[in-house]
Amino acid sequence: MATTPRKILVTSALPYANGSIHLGHLLEHIQTDIWTRFQRMRGHQCFSVCADDAHGTPVMLKAQELGITPEQMVEQTRAEHHQDLLDFFVEYDNYYVTHSDENRELCERVYQRLDDAGYITKRTISQLYDPEKNMFLPDRFVKGTCPNCGAEDQNGDSCDVCSATYSPTEMKDPRSVVSGATPILKDSEHYFFDLPQFEDMLKAWLRSGAIQQEMANKLEEWFEQGLQQWDISRDAPYFGFEIPGAPNKFFYVWVDAPVGYMASFLNYCAANNIDFDSFWNADSDAELYHFIGKDITYFHCLFWPAMLEGAGFRKPTGVNVHGFVTVNGAKMSKSRGTFIKARTYLEHLNPEYLRYYFASKLSDNVTDIDLNFEDFSQKVNADLVGKVVNIASRCAGFIGKRFDGKLSSNILDQELLSAFHNAADSIASHFESRQYHKAIREIMALADRANQFIDAQAPWVTVKDESKQQLTHDVCSLGINLFRILMVYLKPVLPKLAEQAEGFLNDTLTWDSAQTVLRDHDINKFKAMMQRVDMDKVNAMIEDSKESLEATPKIDPNSPLAKDPIAETIEFADFAKVDLRIAKIAKAEHVEGADKLLRLELDLGGETRQVFAGIKSAYSPEQLQGKLTVMVANLAPRKMRFGLSEGMVLAAGPGGQDLWILEPHEGAQPGMKVK
Ligand code: MSP
Ligand code: ZN
Repeated sequence: MATTPRKILVTSALPYANGSIHLGHLLEHIQTDIWTRFQRMRGHQCFSVCADDAHGTPVMLKAQELGITPEQMVEQTRAEHHQDLLDFFVEYDNYYVTHSDENRELCERVYQRLDDAGYITKRTISQLYDPEKNMFLPDRFVKGTCPNCGAEDQNGDSCDVCSATYSPTEMKDPRSVVSGATPILKDSEHYFFDLPQFEDMLKAWLRSGAIQQEMANKLEEWFEQGLQQWDISRDAPYFGFEIPGAPNKFFYVWVDAPVGYMASFLNYCAANNIDFDSFWNADSDAELYHFIGKDITYFHCLFWPAMLEGAGFRKPTGVNVHGFVTVNGAKMSKSRGTFIKARTYLEHLNPEYLRYYFASKLSDNVTDIDLNFEDFSQKVNADLVGKVVNIASRCAGFIGKRFDGKLSSNILDQELLSAFHNAADSIASHFESRQYHKAIREIMALADRANQFIDAQAPWVTVKDESKQQLTHDVCSLGINLFRILMVYLKPVLPKLAEQAEGFLNDTLTWDSAQTVLRDHDINKFKAMMQRVDMDKVNAMIEDSKESLEATPKIDPNSPLAKDPIAETIEFADFAKVDLRIAKIAKAEHVEGADKLLRLELDLGGETRQVFAGIKSAYSPEQLQGKLTVMVANLAPRKMRFGLSEGMVLAAGPGGQDLWILEPHEGAQPGMKVK
């Protein structure tokens, strides 16, 4: 390799030890794992570490609920998480836990250095306290009435109804989620980290390209609001590390969690004779990357670099932020069965399907990634089974049966082969810059070319002609060599498939293998490498993921709710996107050839819209003309068989004749906004 080997350390965010790994987490672990495997294939020294995030109130309370110690719970969960990841071929050099001696010592060292340098201050604050449980309550362990809009049963930090944010002390009738008791206000001394002292350093670091531009812009907003001192202590009882010299005060979990990256690596270095300091000293020549989701950017791009700088360590080279996974277009939901745990997935589907699907959608930006199961099965079947593996399976049989399992020494189409060799740099640069979707697109374009070549040569025809045996041998041999190069490029994404291919090819694939050809080379018998995605299994997985929500209220079987249950809760922001307007039905008419639709012309008081509405079973056009109704005015126009539909009118009822369009009375005017 021309370039000198780099020294790299990468991390994924540490999953909390009080829940299972799910498909959302897996996006991140798969993204990290692909990058790590790619770097190693290129000959770089690349270590990857992760761990379970053990500390904090939720873990402590969950263990109490289960009647075990937090240590026991954390160890069980850690082992389970680690196995889940391994089964997805996500392989860290070390998967540790933050409740460790190394982490305690490193936290104390970081804290001591920050304190010595004058970055720690103390002051007394007043917080809600559960007098029955004798503990201070984190914001999300308080519920009550929103001080802004009066909505009941809201969280202690923000209101789901009006989106207001507030402190739990401002809530009306607050109560403790832990015991139900009414919290009291209680004073306590807290330790603060003086973040504002790092403002200039942080701004420079963010400008250095350590983070994607769109996230850097977001962080600018935080600077505009002004950096605040950060409360880093929590009072007992708390599952965490005690602050040195401060009995009964513990480090807040977000202090020891990122230090946990260092601790996991330290644990690995000790066992493998690696120089930890050369990766973490302020003058380190190693690269350090954190892969995280957008929800924890604040911790990784403000607090963490400031802590590192203040304690005399190096800062991250890059923080790689990704978006969130949605399933079939919506937030993962337990009731719909789209909150899918890693283990449930594994019981039904091949982990490499998911690795491939995520890779085909991942880029370097923070856009959310939708896992649509139709698209998932279509893509995996068409690309992996239909294109890539198909190349090998079309050629392998002839080599085995006719040519003694040996590849030819000729190269039939040097130009085609060169195109495959020459794609290496461009594909590498896409992996390097986390534009995995571009790498996949390029690899699949090559797979198309290989298949076109085989189609045109039709070895299944030439094989029957005695005079064309050499040609058949050369065609199939080139086909296998093209398959081999594709598997080199796909190896970071599909390590298991690559391993199977290596067995078949009787070869070990490194990145440089893409520049070589197997000639006069013995290959092994071809065995099926990957099954098509079976939609029945996808559906069974979703069924298994459905959790009956115990708290579902009892519904009268005669109520409309029994037949048509209320849809999943949406955020206020989602609702606010819908623009409802009063519309006057200026004209209504039958549509030729349509059984259910009427064509409406809606007057919005300044604009006329055409809408096709499925209300013919309930209304004749004459009944509608002149009426006021409510429409969704910002629905994307839809092309229908009969013309463009530019919105939707609202109606109620089960359907058929029992359907009523909404008719506002009392002075509503066309164009008015419905709120
Ligand atoms: N314990 C903290 C991280 C500490 S790192 C020093 C935490 N844990 S978490 O389990 O809630 O999340 C772990 C990672 O998974 C985060 O990067 C988070 O953004 C990511 N994801 C959790 N749900 C996700 C999706 N639905 N989609 C994509 N990533 C998601 O935060
Ligand atoms: Zn509110």
